[in-house]
Amino acid sequence: MSVPLYSPSEEHEMLREAVRALADEKIAPRAAAADENEEFPADVYKDLVAADFHAVHIPEEYGGAGADALATVIVIEEIARACASSSLIPAVNKLGTVPLLLSASEELKTQYLTPVARGDGMFSYALSEADAGSDAAAMKTRAVPDGDHYILNGTKSWITNAGISEYYTVMAVTDPTAGPRGISAFVVEKSDEGVSFGPKEKKLGIKASPTRQVILNNVRIPATRMIGAPGTGFKTALATLDHTRITIAAQALGIAQGALDYAIGYVKQRKQFGRPIADFQGLQFMIADMAMKLESARQLTYAAAAKSDLAMHGTPVKDLTFFSSAAKCAASDAAMDITTDAVQLLGGYGYTRDYPVERMMRDAKITQIYEGTNQIQRMVMARQLLK
Ligand code: CAA
Repeated sequence: MSVPLYSPSEEHEMLREAVRALADEKIAPRAAAADENEEFPADVYKDLVAADFHAVHIPEEYGGAGADALATVIVIEEIARACASSSLIPAVNKLGTVPLLLSASEELKTQYLTPVARGDGMFSYALSEADAGSDAAAMKTRAVPDGDHYILNGTKSWITNAGISEYYTVMAVTDPTAGPRGISAFVVEKSDEGVSFGPKEKKLGIKASPTRQVILNNVRIPATRMIGAPGTGFKTALATLDHTRITIAAQALGIAQGALDYAIGYVKQRKQFGRPIADFQGLQFMIADMAMKLESARQLTYAAAAKSDLAMHGTPVKDLTFFSSAAKCAASDAAMDITTDAVQLLGGYGYTRDYPVERMMRDAKITQIYEGTNQIQRMVMARQLLK
């Protein structure tokens, strides 16, 4: 498998510095309270919109910043280093809108990407259901034609930023006899009659990002809100994940970097047996392993981002699916290990909410689960290798 050359440009590095400065000043100080109160950080959203970091991937023709996939990864990484929940603002805006970028009509793109780029509304992605998680094609939500409209009924589950987002990409069955080829994708608006939301899930981590059901009760929407042709919704959903699993990898990298940076600062300061605990080789080896795992996952993620860019611009990239799953899997497994070790390095303090590493460890866990569990990622990788 060949990896295209990529190298972060001077602009990428300047972008990283700008996002880190904003994250250090405005996001990190609010992260613990947002987690504790389980409140969506509306003030962080405003700051991200003001800096144009809330949906950087949207192309310039729709009023966006037109950032490439690597720049988007860097933005998400740097926000996640301070607060994983906040990093779901740019990440989920990307997840919700990539189906449009890949498959929607020009009218639909203009209608919905423009307000997201302006910061007038966020965009969520509604694929999963209570009985259709890993087996996403087993969904039951129906969309039935009614003249030049469709009527949607069903319940989508575990939808990130549900209730806050104005717009939703909803996958629904239009032909129940056709399996995955009978699924279509639609844009649903929060304000559409018949749309409501379940209670907030009580989660282990990413507590400041609401996860709720999206309940569709006779929601009548114009047929022009279908993304692409009838029956192409499942392919669009999976093709989207080929691009956005890379953004979950970015989130995992950011969480891990936050934990590693904090742990390094701590071990240099904390004294036991009359000297800083950083002097002990056992801990030095832990720090080295943490950084090694992080940097390996980062290089894989950046390579995957380079492939995502090529694919987005029309170059066929046969191994994008492999790279995307591999990056997500490697980065999230690394983040879980690194954050767990960071808690270990802080000892009893690490286990308390007075220090940020326990939040980072809780937040890291979701990156091994959403956008496809890491078991599904391994299945996807194996299928690509064996076909
Ligand atoms: N791109 C485009 N099309 C693809 C594709 C891809 N990467 N992978 C498969 N397809 C196509 C196949 O070619 C097939 O099309 P044809 O019938 O025309 O041949 C169709 O899609 C069905 O494919 P499969 O037969 O492989 O489908 P499957 O049901 O056996 O398996 C799966 C699919 C890989 C297991 C998939 O269901 C999957 O990825 N599951 C995990 C679900 C997931 O990731 N959910 C994430 C929810 S979003 C989320 O978590 C967001 C959040 O909160 C932040």
